[in-house]
Amino acid sequence: MTFESQNNSKVRAHTNIALVKYWGKENEALKIPTTSSLSLTLDKFYTDTEVTFKNELAADQIIFNGEAVKGNKAKRITNFLNIVREMAGKNIFAEVKTSNNVPTAAGLASSASGFAALAGAASKAIGLKLNKKELSRLARRGSGSATRSIYGGFVEWQKGFGDQTSIGVPFIEKVDWNIHIVAILVNKSEKEMTSTQGMKISKDTSPYYVEWKKLCKRDLKNIKIAIKAHDFSRMGKIAEENAMRMHALTLSADPDFTYFDADSLKVMKLVHNLRQRGIECYFTMDAGPNVKILVEDHNLVSLKQELKKDFDEDKIIVASPGPGIKYLK
Ligand code: DP6
Repeated sequence: MTFESQNNSKVRAHTNIALVKYWGKENEALKIPTTSSLSLTLDKFYTDTEVTFKNELAADQIIFNGEAVKGNKAKRITNFLNIVREMAGKNIFAEVKTSNNVPTAAGLASSASGFAALAGAASKAIGLKLNKKELSRLARRGSGSATRSIYGGFVEWQKGFGDQTSIGVPFIEKVDWNIHIVAILVNKSEKEMTSTQGMKISKDTSPYYVEWKKLCKRDLKNIKIAIKAHDFSRMGKIAEENAMRMHALTLSADPDFTYFDADSLKVMKLVHNLRQRGIECYFTMDAGPNVKILVEDHNLVSLKQELKKDFDEDKIIVASPGPGIKYLK
């Protein structure tokens, strides 16, 4: 079959950091989560992805930061493109060129920005005209957290009741609150246990998993109240507790595992210490050793000064609320 309409598109999508985490699937194939979650999209970390469908290709070609991608990573992208091809009813392969402004697989949610950008670019390039709701639903098939990266600001991923209803919903898109997420890059290497594997083992084996689901429901309700009220203390406390409970699932899984390393613990201790000294901040952590610290603008300078005593300046990245996906082509 030939393919004549616009066959190319380029999209920028930003990462998001979950304040109430997604950690487990009810349906693995469709990536339906066990709980709803809530995140903040960040300005500093993003992925740019250009997709071109070409009649002459005999297979998808994936180029990441200038290098050809093979193996499982390529397969995950091809599987996703298969969904897009099926939706469009077109059997044509694509060239995918993608570059990250995120340390890949170090717990800074590169799969979130990656699949959000791919959903936007691939669907437009193949001729599908999807609205944001449909894009969020499609992005979810690539990576759960990508569901939320379609939108800017605070975003809720409603668990829903199945494929149609499990989507991101903007909670507060235009954030009028001077808050920051300070990421401390303690380790740039690829993680050993992917989030997909980690959440499955946690769900299947942690004796605390039932309790986790209940507490997430409560955390989500309360954090929304805190965010609406600009109640930083309440929001931070909920986010920190929720993150620690997620990590308690990994520690209590069989086999047990952890994303903490010595530097992660050092940052957590520092945050506790700073709070005692009146510099209010809270941490959160995902499926990697990097720690992210929530802080309001008036405490940012003091926080950075303290961090600089222990970490190189280039390892400390200050991010702020960021936008939803943007079409560059
Ligand atoms: C800890 O979205 O990477 O960042 O759906 O299997 O691709 P898959 O998992 P992924 O998991 C993200 C887990 C988390 C928490 C979160 O972002 O909510």
